Amino acid sequence: MSTAKLFTPFHVDRLLLANRIVIAPMCQYSAEEGRMTDWHVIHLGHLALSGAALLTIEATAVTPDGRITDGDTGLYSDDCESAMGRTLDSVRRWSDMPIAIQLAHAGRKASTKAPWKGRGQIAPDQPHGWLTEAPSPLPFASGEHPPRSLDREDMRRVRDAFADAAGRAARLDLAAVQIHAAHGYLLHQFLSPLANRRDDEYGGTLENRMRFPLEVFEATRAAFPAGRPVSVRVSGTDWAEGGWDIEQTIAFAQALEQRGCSAIHVSSGGLTPAQKVPTGPSYQVPLARAVKQAVRIPVVAVGLITEFEQAEAILGTGDADLIALARTILYDPRWPWHAAAHFGARIKAPNQYLRSQPSHVAHLFEGSGG
Ligand SMILES: Cc1cc2nc3c(=O)[nH]c(=O)nc-3n(C[C@H](O)[C@H](O)[C@H](O)COP(=O)(O)O)c2cc1C
Repeated sequence: MSTAKLFTPFHVDRLLLANRIVIAPMCQYSAEEGRMTDWHVIHLGHLALSGAALLTIEATAVTPDGRITDGDTGLYSDDCESAMGRTLDSVRRWSDMPIAIQLAHAGRKASTKAPWKGRGQIAPDQPHGWLTEAPSPLPFASGEHPPRSLDREDMRRVRDAFADAAGRAARLDLAAVQIHAAHGYLLHQFLSPLANRRDDEYGGTLENRMRFPLEVFEATRAAFPAGRPVSVRVSGTDWAEGGWDIEQTIAFAQALEQRGCSAIHVSSGGLTPAQKVPTGPSYQVPLARAVKQAVRIPVVAVGLITEFEQAEAILGTGDADLIALARTILYDPRWPWHAAAHFGARIKAPNQYLRSQPSHVAHLFEGSGG
């Protein structure tokens, strides 16, 4: 019997997670007009067989101009909702893994090329480009077409779009919603003094900069069924002089906790090209630890977590309650199986694959994944 914490169950609100491994949201740039395609059945389908506790659907835009690229998924129309519903039906036929969704608006980082097409902004007058919007008319990188500054009416529209998308997510029976307030996208742009130069009650002091992201949280929380988690993904720091930092992140996490936030997922960076990120194994874990020490709600650590003992140590030392994997699980979609084998734990696998259990790890599989 394994004693690894990685394979102990955990509750986030009323959602029961079978272990501590969650799959982080990952954009696939493979949607059409916001609608999921067959690629999403393949991508989400294979990850849903991995034995992780939770699968998070990629950053899904709440408005068309909130998409990072024109290949992003959206949840802003009936067409988007039906396409996602079809994908979920296929995946759920063969896996009972709970599925969450990350709701997002890219703000000034919208209207870009997919990574394999060279990233970078597409100007509004170019094919597949559009005028972006942000708290202040400051472009992400110098030389880019600046965003349009959001007025109060625009902000109400964006806030309501988050709530509408959460309502659609509830109809799709998604297990949890994660609000994207990290990586330099719209809500992070409101938080960071490097992107927010507003002189109204949504800019200036920390309290003012947090105001819009907190309003979005409250509207989203109200639109999603009670007991089903609404979490927030934050950047713990901009890694840049004069920017958002861990002290402000802690204040934001506490404000979210007071408003009923279910968990905080701690990432970092993405706000400015001037960032100096000290990447390396577990490089964001100290940020998760700092948040964990300041709140009572669950905290998720992410970023270059690749090894089984490394993941176990993050949980064992109490730095975080859950670990999230992105590139690690794309590279090795059976990472949770291998981790379970390493720790002598049991894990769920689909019936069709039960015969793959290696003879030296008898009792690895629990059986039916469906
Ligand atoms: C292909 C890819 C797509 C990503 N898309 C998203 C996304 O939609 N939303 C998000 O918050 N982070 C996104 N990220 C960041 C990951 O969720 C994760 O935070 C980051 O890659 C660090 O974890 P890792 O070292 O396990 O990859 C993406 C990362 C990759 C590699």
